[in-house]
Amino acid sequence: MDSIHICGGYPLYGETRIQGSKNAVLPILAATVLVDGVSTLKNCPDIADVRCMVRLLESVGCSVERRGGQIRVDAGCIRETGLPREYVIRMRSSVVMMGALLGRMGKVTISYPGGCVIGKRPIDMHLQSFARLGVELKEEGDTLTAQAKCLQGGLIRLAFPSVGATENSILAAVLAQGETQIENVAREPEIDALCGFLCCAGADISRTGEDGSTLSIRGGNTLHSCCYHIPADRIVAGTYLLGCMAAGGRICLKEAEPRELTALLEVIEGMGGRFSYGQNTLTLTAPKRPQALSHVCTAVYPGYPTDLQSQLVAALALAEGESVVEETVFENRFRVVPELVRMGACIRIKGNRAIVKGVASLHGSRVRAMELRGGAALCMAALAAKGESWIDDRHFIDRGYEALEQDIRNLGGRI
Ligand code: UD1
Repeated sequence: MDSIHICGGYPLYGETRIQGSKNAVLPILAATVLVDGVSTLKNCPDIADVRCMVRLLESVGCSVERRGGQIRVDAGCIRETGLPREYVIRMRSSVVMMGALLGRMGKVTISYPGGCVIGKRPIDMHLQSFARLGVELKEEGDTLTAQAKCLQGGLIRLAFPSVGATENSILAAVLAQGETQIENVAREPEIDALCGFLCCAGADISRTGEDGSTLSIRGGNTLHSCCYHIPADRIVAGTYLLGCMAAGGRICLKEAEPRELTALLEVIEGMGGRFSYGQNTLTLTAPKRPQALSHVCTAVYPGYPTDLQSQLVAALALAEGESVVEETVFENRFRVVPELVRMGACIRIKGNRAIVKGVASLHGSRVRAMELRGGAALCMAALAAKGESWIDDRHFIDRGYEALEQDIRNLGGRI
């Protein structure tokens, strides 16, 4: 059944463990292609995007074995350089297989990647970075071939600290000859996780520059077998915290990493939420009704994450007063708003801003997920909305949430 049924209007009380991070595990799975041996990854979430990345690895000749949260990848017999369109168009992160295959094989053929419909999402910066390392690009229809006789380290300066372009640049540079400097890199924790895995396998990567915005890579080291633990998913943790702000109550998250959630925690405190910290636990006590926020703006890390923007709009829909949420990372990321309005929210879109006039309550409704985080935001709104809600097209949500139903039940929601 492709819908989620929630009976809402009750505060949340309970605790749950946060799954491994989707945005960390995907580039790390791609990075296993560079390893001359077996990579063992622990705490991998069992989500659709991970299954898709596993198919991509298998399609180029990796042998992959999954047991519970552990995935072992043996990249010893890679032979293919063409990535099957069927999997590439399912998710945008398939694009990081480009850097990995270029590093390992010196060649890759790929169709333009798919993913959530949240703007144009070009890959021009990824391609410019490859060119700086000596890669030649050829485009035929929607198929792209990238090839280098010998990848050579170089200086890459990203026009914008794109997460994917940073990952692709790292992956292409790690086995290249000589040194690579990548300037204006993304500082998201998922970049540190990727570098952590690669260094664990023997790569030489360090962050330099006053604010850590440059990565220096000494290329050419052979990468060896290693074991790496995937960190907790900060966006899943943030989703449940905002769900609790919408519905009220008190929830405890195990294994969430507060240091990666600073911007969100400040925003929630501004809405009247209170936190307490235990060993490996984060507890939120939500007010009966959240306070409005005059202006929240999404930004690259360590700013407020765009991946938690829809969930914030859902919580502010119930706040006392008017809030403004500005989206600066992606265009077209307010697709959830008309669905929230169906539930009784009062939200207007003006350019890249959502003006949210808080209402005292939402009502259950039949709504439709249109992308991953917007779909999760609808579930959070449904927990707060009085009565029954159905969220259709749940497959978008399954791309990123391993056990949404179980988590919500653990938190006391009726789903
Ligand atoms: C990653 C995350 C996604 C998150 C986003 C921003 C993964 C799997 N996905 O996506 O969940 O929302 O970071 O934190 O980790 N851009 C260009 N040209 C490029 C590359 C990007 O114009 O070559 C633009 C994009 O269209 C977008 C902005 O840069 O407007 C940010 O994109 P980017 O940081 O690259 O996001 P993703 O890596 O796609």
